[in-house]
Amino acid sequence: MKREQWGTKYGFILAAMGSAIGLGNLVRYPSVVYENGAGAFLIPYFVALFTAGIPILFLEYSLGHKYRGAGPWVYQKLSKKWEWLGWWQSIVAFVILSYYMVILGWALSYTYYSFGAQWGEDTESFFFNDYLGVTEGVGVLGGIQWKVLIPVAILWALLFWVLHRGAKRGIEWASKFMIPILVAMIVLITIRGLTLEGAVKGLEAYFTPDFAALSKPEVWINAYGQVFFTLSVGFCTMITYASYLPKRSDLANSGFIVALSNCSFEFFAAIGIFSALGFLATQQGVEVGEVVAGTLGMSFVVFPQIINQFPGLNSLFGVMFFVSLLFAGFTSAVSLAEPGIAAIREKFGLSRKAAVNWLCGASALLSLLYVFKGGLYFLDIVDYFINNYGIVVSAILMVVLAGWVSKQVDSLQNHINDVSIVRIGAWWPIVIRFITPLSLAAMVLWNIYKEWMMTYGGYPQWSVNVFGWGLLAVVIIAGALIQQRRWATEPSPHREEVSS
Ligand code: PHE
Repeated sequence: MKREQWGTKYGFILAAMGSAIGLGNLVRYPSVVYENGAGAFLIPYFVALFTAGIPILFLEYSLGHKYRGAGPWVYQKLSKKWEWLGWWQSIVAFVILSYYMVILGWALSYTYYSFGAQWGEDTESFFFNDYLGVTEGVGVLGGIQWKVLIPVAILWALLFWVLHRGAKRGIEWASKFMIPILVAMIVLITIRGLTLEGAVKGLEAYFTPDFAALSKPEVWINAYGQVFFTLSVGFCTMITYASYLPKRSDLANSGFIVALSNCSFEFFAAIGIFSALGFLATQQGVEVGEVVAGTLGMSFVVFPQIINQFPGLNSLFGVMFFVSLLFAGFTSAVSLAEPGIAAIREKFGLSRKAAVNWLCGASALLSLLYVFKGGLYFLDIVDYFINNYGIVVSAILMVVLAGWVSKQVDSLQNHINDVSIVRIGAWWPIVIRFITPLSLAAMVLWNIYKEWMMTYGGYPQWSVNVFGWGLLAVVIIAGALIQQRRWATEPSPHREEVSS
């Protein structure tokens, strides 16, 4: 079995950009910024970017490229006993995929509702009551919501199809098609946003710094969380994508391009979104703070309101916004599935088709959970725990493994420098060994302390135990169990390491 490869260098860069640019950029970022000190948030954001995001991005690139495998394979190459960490990260991606697809399903429905603004005047009640049919509390399941199930099923079918076609004909092809259209649509939306009445008010809300926020540890925590999520690091995604690169590939250059384009996309798209918020606030004669909502509310409640108020071409802008979510999200969903697919192929010697069927089949089943009327509560709890602990804790272990247990950072640095034109300096091993683990550890300890003091979101303790802590435990145990099995495909030609 020969290892799959990208078609071109740009194909890889587009696929990696497609992974990075997603709901995290368009949905999560604007509300995270607003809730965490607005303009002042850029400080912790950049700190997180340079102390963890970009260094770990390079780490993943070099690991995948040097050892030519998905996460579990790569980690057990670093140290025999560490395979489970790769399973952990790949399973976390698999769990995120299960609800990521559901949110994309909502975006598909809303693309349709955009025609003639079918959500009506009261967009909040439409979203929660008419569309999701949310029940009165966690644990009240309330039957399947068909309006959600159907679009979610359509998207799953598409995802199966693209992933069956493989890295080059599927993932690369979808990214080449979707990413340029996405960028063009976001540019149009941003220009239109900036020219709306009241845009300045929105921009003030985006940029006016609240420096007091910088003294709050949770603002820093949120910055790290955002950076991991948006760059897709800590999920083995970038390891897997880099493993499909040919021997001679400029890793440093690609890394900088992907990080820079992802973050500027996020930054500029938010200018459009905040301008539109300023417009809505002006129309309603209120402050911007009164129209801002939490992550999902922003896209599915506030944005429809903005579309209602638009001076013209309402349906068109609605469609453009929700199709942007779909395109951005779809190429990310693909990259949430691929680490697991590649991992089970290698471990169990499966064909690509079989691996896709198993992984996506299981994730699709899991996503049924959120298609129930009471599913929104589960989605919220799972998202919170997986993001705050699943990713960050595994990222600490990852840098400890590379920097201390296997002591491979220096040779990985040489590997990057051998294949790249731009050289990675001595800063990189230092950051990976000291700065990243220390800053992440400080952040997790604070988070756990907070969790002790109160139950997340005021949910009943049992639900947090099952869908939060319980899920995390299952993920870790599953990884340890899989580690006990032998590798099916070892040794095989595609495992040849790239000489370094
Ligand atoms: N980066 C994607 C986003 O911003 C999410 C993602 C995370 C995708 C991890 C793949 C792996 O939405």
